[in-house]
Amino acid sequence: GAASKDGYRHFMLKEIYEQPQVIAATLEGRLSERRVLAESFGPQAEALLSRARQVHIVACGTSYHAGLVARYWLEKYAGLPTQVEVASEYRYRRVVVPEDTLFVTLSQSGETADTLAALRFARERGYLGSLAICNVPGSSLVRESDLALMTQAGPEIGVASTKAFTTQLVALMLLTLSLGRRHGLDAAEEARIVQALHALPGVVRQVLGLDAAIEALSTAFAEKQHALFLGRGAHYPIALEGALKLKEISYIHAEAYPAGELKHGPLALVDSEMPVISVAPNDELLEKLKSNLQEVRARGGELFVFADESVRLEDTEGVHVLRLPRIDEALAPLLYTLPLQLLSYHVAVLKGTDVDQPRNLAKSVTVE
Ligand code: G6P
Repeated sequence: GAASKDGYRHFMLKEIYEQPQVIAATLEGRLSERRVLAESFGPQAEALLSRARQVHIVACGTSYHAGLVARYWLEKYAGLPTQVEVASEYRYRRVVVPEDTLFVTLSQSGETADTLAALRFARERGYLGSLAICNVPGSSLVRESDLALMTQAGPEIGVASTKAFTTQLVALMLLTLSLGRRHGLDAAEEARIVQALHALPGVVRQVLGLDAAIEALSTAFAEKQHALFLGRGAHYPIALEGALKLKEISYIHAEAYPAGELKHGPLALVDSEMPVISVAPNDELLEKLKSNLQEVRARGGELFVFADESVRLEDTEGVHVLRLPRIDEALAPLLYTLPLQLLSYHVAVLKGTDVDQPRNLAKSVTVE
């Protein structure tokens, strides 16, 4: 039947709130207590996954950002050299494909023209094989790939992707652990991350409880023309995704930078009219991030920091700190996506834009 908003004001908000269920659905049947089940990728997967020595990931838009997170994961936990590229660039250049490289596409729809063309291009270039991580069964991408790992996000109506992104991250973590096991990932580390995956839907639900606090923060953005998002490590792509969400639905110009690049340009833009949003999980880069934040503050920039509950950071004049529950470091990028989704949603509502169908954009770009 016709999709319904179930009492939510917009599909986007409904889809943000569906994330605990759809993350659980994407994990369903794919985990034991301590491991990723071998059969998750289908019967043909074993040969491909155990031979893979490199990974090339290709996608567009929000799906591309999921790929960027996966590069941090695949290199850290599976030790596999990984490259990530937007499909429209990849398909038109000479690509060097090392032996035993797995080709991975990411797509909510499975019908994005450039991603599909990239897959067809890749099929002629001697890859080990292709895997599609996709949300639509029977889509062109799924039909034309050797393997498919389906996300279980259900139909996504809002043009700005939310639940498709977080379920892609879940699927990519399953891929990381499956490849990792075949390439020296310690069983205890796999077990630790699998346990965190089991707990994830509950933690995501807790983060949705911050909605009212995030809505209150959003008023600071309604009159702004620009915003800067900062992150480090696997949270740099989360900053990119936060900036994309804000651009797409509120039409505020937003940029994302790896926090360490601040001094190489964007700091010149920081003044009291430039809000700076940062994600600060409690990982090994925290201290470095903190000094970046001080630089912003020293130039009058108003700071919005989403931080782990244990992070010692004062909520003071011009510094707004919102605490997120503790999460295993491996899954933090997934969790820190949620407050950024909610923030852009509330800013867009304040600005009165068409949240579910922003101007000039389409849900699925099926022509070049
Ligand atoms: C469009 C949508 C985005 C989406 C991108 C890639 O730009 O507006 O939300 O991320 O296409 O779509 P795909 O279906 O391939 O993930």
